[in-house]
Amino acid sequence: MRNLIDKLAETHVLSKEELVYIIKNINDEDRKYLHEKASCIRDKYYGKKVYLRALIEFTNYCKNDCYYCGIRKSNKNADRYRLSLEQIMECADIGHTLGYNTYVLQGGEDPYFTDDRIVEIVKAIKSKYPDCAVTLSIGEKSYESYKKYYDAGADRYLLRHETANEEHYKKLHPEKMELSNRIQCLRNLKEIGYQIGAGFMVHSPYQTPEILAEDLLFLKELDPHMVGIGPFIPHHDTQFKDEPAGTVEETTLMLSLIRLLLPTCLLPATTALGTIDPVGREKGFDAGANVAMPNLSPTSSRKKYELYDNKICTGDEAAECRHCIENRINLAGYELDMSRGDNVTWTRK
Ligand code: 5AD
Ligand code: FES
Repeated sequence: MRNLIDKLAETHVLSKEELVYIIKNINDEDRKYLHEKASCIRDKYYGKKVYLRALIEFTNYCKNDCYYCGIRKSNKNADRYRLSLEQIMECADIGHTLGYNTYVLQGGEDPYFTDDRIVEIVKAIKSKYPDCAVTLSIGEKSYESYKKYYDAGADRYLLRHETANEEHYKKLHPEKMELSNRIQCLRNLKEIGYQIGAGFMVHSPYQTPEILAEDLLFLKELDPHMVGIGPFIPHHDTQFKDEPAGTVEETTLMLSLIRLLLPTCLLPATTALGTIDPVGREKGFDAGANVAMPNLSPTSSRKKYELYDNKICTGDEAAECRHCIENRINLAGYELDMSRGDNVTWTRK
């Protein structure tokens, strides 16, 4: 086990069999060793800095029906909302006052937000705050749509691949969703010039160690600038309501493996990780993560953006989250960084 971990830390490459071996056999002591190696590589490129992104969840309408997700189309109990351009700008203004330089606009795949409306939002934020980065996380779109958003000033795009295994993908999504399309979207985004983020849930239903290894190798090959992973957490209104959530151990193991496979990637300690453990995000930093995405959505809509049960921070004001996360980062021995926090290897085309 130690030889494999050392090999990974030195070469940043392992085979599928080797990854599966680690996932299946790692014990607590080796896990600690792996986390230390991963932290060390993070430090080499980014130091102890943790980059902050302001997350604005601007719509929970969604035309998709992913089986795991609380805001899936067929969940009739979801209380739907959309933020207006004015409300989004109010969030951005609050974010600016709190010192943020990156806005992540996340939403379901909501047809109300046509390309023209998305372009309008991106332009409004970029013209008021030209030095900030705008990240979109609004799902699968055509090459042309992605290009329009990019030309309007969007810098980054988050689109988790969810699972790199075709059969597994089919077990998590309705028939009309295709893994190949999602992967094509990621490749298009990269070609256009975005910093891209892929990722997956840890311990989603039907996931196996082999599938996790496939996810890791897919990420290695795609080479995204960011990787978003967090534990699967059941939502009470979905067919997976009785499935077990992912654990902190499984998630931090994946964080460390990703850090070692993709040394310079930006890797968030996600809200989902903070949800399954009160100090989950801190454990994420110790495993090699270096990004946090505090919530900036208006408190009136926070609870409604419920992808999974018991999500943290839903009752807190933007300023409270900002200060809470700052304290956590400092107490855990890291340094808050409010700059744009681009990937060290990236320059805009
Ligand atoms: N548990 C954890 N993460 C989830 N997501 C969606 N539903 C859940 C859930 N039940 C994740 C997906 C999606 C991201 C925005 O949130 O990976 O890409
Ligand atoms: Fe939101 Fe702690 S980060 S309350």
